[in-house]
Amino acid sequence: MKNLYKILLVTILIGAFTSCQKDSRPNYQYMPNMYEPVSYETYGEYEVFPGKQEAMLPAEGTIARGESAFDYTDSEADYQAAKASLKSPLDSTQVDYDKAKGLYSIYCAICHGNKGDGNTSFSERDLIIPGGYDTKDITIGSIYHTIYYGRNTMGSYANQLSEEERWQVAAYVEKLKADLQK
Ligand code: HEC
Repeated sequence: MKNLYKILLVTILIGAFTSCQKDSRPNYQYMPNMYEPVSYETYGEYEVFPGKQEAMLPAEGTIARGESAFDYTDSEADYQAAKASLKSPLDSTQVDYDKAKGLYSIYCAICHGNKGDGNTSFSERDLIIPGGYDTKDITIGSIYHTIYYGRNTMGSYANQLSEEERWQVAAYVEKLKADLQK
């Protein structure tokens, strides 16, 4: 009889512990630290960040490793200033046209065409008509500014290309322009 009580008690206890389990919502956490990290989670929203933004922005004036400061802003005046006086840090021996061509084909040719003449399947359908580089008043500085900030309907490619790659592609655009004018 005593044993029967014990069996009954154990059965009730097991029942009590398991019957409330619902797989649709989290159950008891016996060691919550294992589930909920003390550190902040990526893309979490936290009060400590201004405006509950997902993470802190880099301090003003921060320059990414391997990049140098770019003193021109996204204004028309600075576009004109870049056109007039911004020069490439690469000399002619440092320009690698094969590498630049590869980058150009990935990021630019879809809209500007492999030759830079603007003839693409987009222009045929009147969707994107950037016009040929030979029709544009551009310099290495303005091309760099355009890659950095974009221009009118063209977006920025600063995130896709490193500083050195931007100068390589800019040199390649100059070459395409010269070839078109031959
Ligand atoms: C999604 C389409 C698209 C892509 C991709 C694109 N462009 Fe453009 N680009 C345009 C359009 C459209 C214009 C014309 C903008 C305007 O002046 O209204 C333009 C204009 C330009 C100009 C002339 C700007 C000026 O000073 O008048 C240059 C130079 C240029 N692009 C270079 C590039 C380079 C280099 C890349 C690749 C890194 C690139 N573009 C990628 C659409 C594109």
